Amino acid sequence: MLVKGKAFIVTGGLGAIGKACVLLLLEKGAIPVVFDRLNESDAKAVLKEAGAEAALYVKTDITDVKATEQACGVALQRIPKGSLAGGIHCAGIAPGRKWSHKLVDSAADFEKVFKVNAYGTFAVDACIADAINSQYPDDGPFGPRVTEERGCIVNIASVVAKPVPGRCLTYGPSKTAVLGITEGMADFLGPFGIRVNSVAPAVVASALMGPDRLPYFQNELETGCIYPRRVSQPAEVAGGCLFLIENSMMNDHHLRVDGGWRGTTLWSETHDPRAKAISLE
Ligand SMILES: NC(=O)c1ccc[n+]([C@@H]2O[C@H](COP(=O)([O-])OP(=O)(O)OC[C@H]3O[C@@H](n4cnc5c(N)ncnc54)[C@H](O)[C@@H]3O)[C@@H](O)[C@H]2O)c1
Repeated sequence: MLVKGKAFIVTGGLGAIGKACVLLLLEKGAIPVVFDRLNESDAKAVLKEAGAEAALYVKTDITDVKATEQACGVALQRIPKGSLAGGIHCAGIAPGRKWSHKLVDSAADFEKVFKVNAYGTFAVDACIADAINSQYPDDGPFGPRVTEERGCIVNIASVVAKPVPGRCLTYGPSKTAVLGITEGMADFLGPFGIRVNSVAPAVVASALMGPDRLPYFQNELETGCIYPRRVSQPAEVAGGCLFLIENSMMNDHHLRVDGGWRGTTLWSETHDPRAKAISLE
């Protein structure tokens, strides 16, 4: 798919990976429309500082499906007619808490994380797909299969989606859900000419990761990555997303951008290696 002149919604576009996706889309001549939680003037300042002032911005909370649907409506009004061709869904959270062996302590986090990372992914994919389809004549349910490519949606999952390590008790399964949502959406949207893929980053320095978790991961990456054994750059993740959008044969695909890291607990140590983990996600 040629992205030049086409519009793409980037949720979480004010975050580290989202901003990198916005910059790459701009570089390719596409029109990024950022959905994030900040008010318009603060968001514009963040985008300007990143060199992405040409991006459009619509404030929305992606856990609110009605608000996200409305935000897609605003996006459609602001972009050239018929140009919406997909999205990169980067909005997500990964709250950490002090390690506890009492599993019920994680139940509240589970609910909160699933609302954003799992339900939010369903809501975003649904709203973007409906918005893309709204640009074409409605043939009703089970209408003729379209022959032209309408678009592509990329969801950001995580290396810890599968296998899920025990230190990612809530965040990990929320990203496993992203894989399932991607599969289901790809199958549902195939007849509409919309592809759906996911990308799994390993560890990227960002607000989501926080400063205190990075040193722990640095050590895990050095031990667990095949090569390169380091933190990934947001632009490397964005490159994976763009590849999935641009290559029209990529559908229902889960792309790991992770240096061969498997993110599993390194059980070879004699003590419980998770004692060194800063937090339980
Ligand atoms: N940083 C990593 O190491 C890493 C690793 C694997 C996967 N990921 C995933 O990559 C994605 C992007 O993460 P990042 O590292 O850029 O984090 P980030 O914190 O820099 O960016 C996340 C963005 O999502 C936005 N957001 C969160 N909840 C929202 C909501 N309800 N509505 C609208 N916007 C919302 C935030 O405001 C923020 O701008 C996330 O889905 C994350 O789970 C990150």
